[in-house]
Amino acid sequence: MIKNEEYFQANKELWNQRTIVHKDSDFYNLAGFKAGESVLTSIELAELGDVKSKSLLHLQCHFGMDSLDWARRGAIVTGIDLSDTAIDEAKKLNDELGLNAKFVCCNVYDTSLHVKDQFDIVFTSYGTIGWLPDLVSWAKMIAGKLKPGGIFYIAEFHPVVWMFDDDFTHIKYSYENKEVIMTENEGTYTDRNADIKGKEYSWNHSISEVLNALIKAGLKIELFNEHMYSPYPCFRNTVEFEKGKWHIKGMEGKIPMVYSLKATKAISS
Ligand SMILES: C[S@@+](CC[C@H](N)C(=O)[O-])C[C@H]1O[C@@H](n2cnc3c(N)ncnc32)[C@H](O)[C@@H]1O
Repeated sequence: MIKNEEYFQANKELWNQRTIVHKDSDFYNLAGFKAGESVLTSIELAELGDVKSKSLLHLQCHFGMDSLDWARRGAIVTGIDLSDTAIDEAKKLNDELGLNAKFVCCNVYDTSLHVKDQFDIVFTSYGTIGWLPDLVSWAKMIAGKLKPGGIFYIAEFHPVVWMFDDDFTHIKYSYENKEVIMTENEGTYTDRNADIKGKEYSWNHSISEVLNALIKAGLKIELFNEHMYSPYPCFRNTVEFEKGKWHIKGMEGKIPMVYSLKATKAISS
């Protein structure tokens, strides 16, 4: 049986390849971001609120655009990611923009080994926990990285979306975390024809698995929302029904596509 380390290594190789394509893609709009446009979505902006002067740990930050967007809004940011290519790009972007975010290359499960501080906010979003086999140790790490009274915030694609095949024609995968899902990957969501090939390994996580992992880690759920659209056109067969909001063609308004959650760590425990 393949061990998690081998899954992580395969995923890292794919994310390294994807980063090279993503940073020059229209999807990520790096040129617009460099020119001052925001890349955060109205979901996390409305729900997380003011981050000015707050320390913020961004888990699975990819090549740092969202992290640096929070930094531009006054947060003191540390981003971590498994992909060394992504972290190198994030550091370059930080320097180019004259910001003072820190970026660290590590597996999310090893965050505490590499990042010693505790934070006011731990943030993660859109395409993160699907790369993680186990949410109990993920949530425990998050609780450990929060200061007393600190906030954990996640905006993530809804597990219902991950039940479908790539073209959204039928239900292919279990809603729950039953097993590792191996996919022979070609291309990426910013360019389906990109020269990227390799096996990737992911896991589906039900809403109850997420909630129970956080509750078990001692966090108090303060907000939970389901959104009937995606703020990104990263799936096949999407239609933009309103600026910045996408549905799956044929399922308009029928399935949740994103959920968001805010949880806090008790001031004294
Ligand atoms: C979809 S991206 C992050 C989402 C972010 N909103 C974005 O698009 O910029 C997923 C990121 O998770 C990272 N990743 C995957 N598995 C990881 C792990 N075990 N530990 C840390 N980072 C991981 C990948 O390298 C990738 O940069």
